[in-house]
Amino acid sequence: MIPTRDIEGAAAALRQGKLVAFPTETVYGLGADAENVQAVARIFAVKGRPSSHPLIVHLASADDLPRWAAEVPDAARRLAAACWPGPLTLLLRKHARVPAATTGGLDSVGLRVPAHPVALELLRSFGGGVAAPSANRFGRVSPTCAEHVARDLGDDIDMLLDGGECDVGVESTILDLTRDVPVLLRPGGVTVAHIESLLGVSVSRTLTASTRAPGLLPSHYAPLARVEIVASAELAARARELEQAGERVALLLSHQDDAKVLGAKEAIFLDLGPDAISAAQRLYSALREADARGASVVLTSPPAAEGLGEALVDRLSKAAGPRS
Ligand code: TXA
Ligand code: MG
Repeated sequence: MIPTRDIEGAAAALRQGKLVAFPTETVYGLGADAENVQAVARIFAVKGRPSSHPLIVHLASADDLPRWAAEVPDAARRLAAACWPGPLTLLLRKHARVPAATTGGLDSVGLRVPAHPVALELLRSFGGGVAAPSANRFGRVSPTCAEHVARDLGDDIDMLLDGGECDVGVESTILDLTRDVPVLLRPGGVTVAHIESLLGVSVSRTLTASTRAPGLLPSHYAPLARVEIVASAELAARARELEQAGERVALLLSHQDDAKVLGAKEAIFLDLGPDAISAAQRLYSALREADARGASVVLTSPPAAEGLGEALVDRLSKAAGPRS
């Protein structure tokens, strides 16, 4: 699939029920008309994703909320005003116009206004809601540039809009506003501390049995190489041990200085930059690079789970999760 910048053409393709991959500020999405059941079914087929896993519906503006949610609580209005366009998905009771196929049969819908200018222009030009999961095969690493999408999905999609590299690099924060208290379903680009300061209440991280959050599968966001999380003090020793056992080790580190200190001889060094923001931007391309360079194992010690670090810890733990 050859990337294009033809936003009008992409909006026309969506109107015809086609699949269009497009950039957002978090990761690239695989988009279809959220109200077109056949087009939505193709998203699940191309991704290889179980049809019970709901899709996020992307909107051009917070003004569209009442068209997609049955009710818009005050908390949703406040968060939308402060955080949209931006990396925050709000779960609300779905409006009757949202097909069950789009929400995996749930009566809630995830809604978000993305901050990428290409995504916004596409959404404005299309006029409706665009259902879009990340544009990768199910369970694998999300794409943060057009080349990643082209490599993963090839010609299984109809169009690929190029918008350069994603600024945030990890997916949106998902907040469930259908309950008595706001519940965090996935940490992401908007921090919990920021949400709490805007709402003046605390966000729960406790999932009840009735919360079906399929993104919480134990393994997700995984490269081909297996991922091991170790304390930073043990990285060097573990890397040597694995190398002696014949493994090709990649060290995923927050910055290059750590790598020099480690002095592991054969290891591939994957630099995530000096802070959580650059680490989030680089994370998925670094995992892809580990695969491209033939690593059999990625060793990492995640940052503190604070701020954007919470999303990094979440994605790395899932990448390290048991695989079926
Ligand atoms: O940043 C993002 O959110 C990206 C970009 C493309 O917008 N999208 C994304 O979509 O990460 P996806 O499908 O890869 O992850 C969305 C997660 C899934 O785990 C899905 O199960 C969950 O959100 N989700 C969506 N709607 C839901 C709902 N109504 N109830 C519970 N979980 C929901
Ligand atoms: Mg995904």
